[in-house]
Amino acid sequence: MNQKDVVITLDGPAGSGKSSVAKKLAEHLGLLHADSGAMYRTFTLALMQRLGPGETPEDFGNQVKAAAISPESLHVEVKIDADRQSNLISGLDQMDLIRSPEVTARIKYIADRLEFREAVNRLLSKMKGVVADGRDMGSVVFPDAPFKFYLEASVEMRAERRLKELQAKGWNEDIEALRESIRKRDEEDQNRQFGALRRTDDMILIDTTHINLDGVLRRILNSLQIQF
Ligand code: C5P
Repeated sequence: MNQKDVVITLDGPAGSGKSSVAKKLAEHLGLLHADSGAMYRTFTLALMQRLGPGETPEDFGNQVKAAAISPESLHVEVKIDADRQSNLISGLDQMDLIRSPEVTARIKYIADRLEFREAVNRLLSKMKGVVADGRDMGSVVFPDAPFKFYLEASVEMRAERRLKELQAKGWNEDIEALRESIRKRDEEDQNRQFGALRRTDDMILIDTTHINLDGVLRRILNSLQIQF
């Protein structure tokens, strides 16, 4: 197998460390990192910009349903190079905005809709030589990927990680609110009709609660070295 064509999938719940691990793993192996969560975030932000955020996330969800806007008409593009993924809306990179708590609270209304799942899957389907992270990378989008991993961690640890990430960007959140948001997101991610978070038998499970980033990376590389 040509290493440059390989696809490695990393799935797991919010805050399990997938994106950071995927980024480092891709760097280490000379592959690209495809962050599918960022693609759902970009479509969500594009719809918030088009329709307004709504008074509540539920209002926003109702507006999205009523407006029936096609994903193509939102002009979302994703460019991936060796350093980073750029998520563009009408040509503008929106990297700084897509991780805001307002976007996070509204993603469900996009990630539940088949037309947006198909749009994200189309963006991903052409990619080769990637480490792809998300919820359904190994189960739906790249079912034939030769290397699949599933990362998980306790709710407590995932909330602490999210808090640090948000603080680094200048946002603040109450830790209990983050725990609650993570529990809610787990429930939504595991129960959606299409592309639900699911560990299939061919995914190698890594619990990252007590292992740091380098530790997780070492475990993944150990499993890969047998075959690379
Ligand atoms: O990974 P991240 O937290 O950025 O993902 C944001 C949201 O996008 C998830 O909570 C989930 O609802 C959705 N998502 C998804 N399928 C993926 C990746 C993300 O439904 N493959």
